[in-house]
Amino acid sequence: MTMRVQVAKLADIDVKSSRKVKVQDTEIAIFRLTDGSVLAVENKCPHKGGQLSEGMVCGGAVHCPLHDWKIDLRSGRAQAPDEGCITTFDLEVDGESGNIYITI
Ligand code: FES
Repeated sequence: MTMRVQVAKLADIDVKSSRKVKVQDTEIAIFRLTDGSVLAVENKCPHKGGQLSEGMVCGGAVHCPLHDWKIDLRSGRAQAPDEGCITTFDLEVDGESGNIYITI
């Protein structure tokens, strides 16, 4: 079963930065990119579980703060030569209120 949850407001997240939220038992990192997109992924690096919300955003990827793997925020995949994948979540921003919703 899926549900839609309001997790933050757009104004709470600076461009090139992120915010972490917990929905049920899952920690999710919400990133705001320079091109205006807002993306939600599991806040756990596929390598050794580093907190991606603490990483540096570069284009459409985040650099894990622990060992610098680059994780694509759209696909959830680690960039080669590293291998692994994290869960990505559907996210919607309400244009009027700025509320951010994710479907989990
Ligand atoms: S835990 Fe993320 S690169 Fe090692």
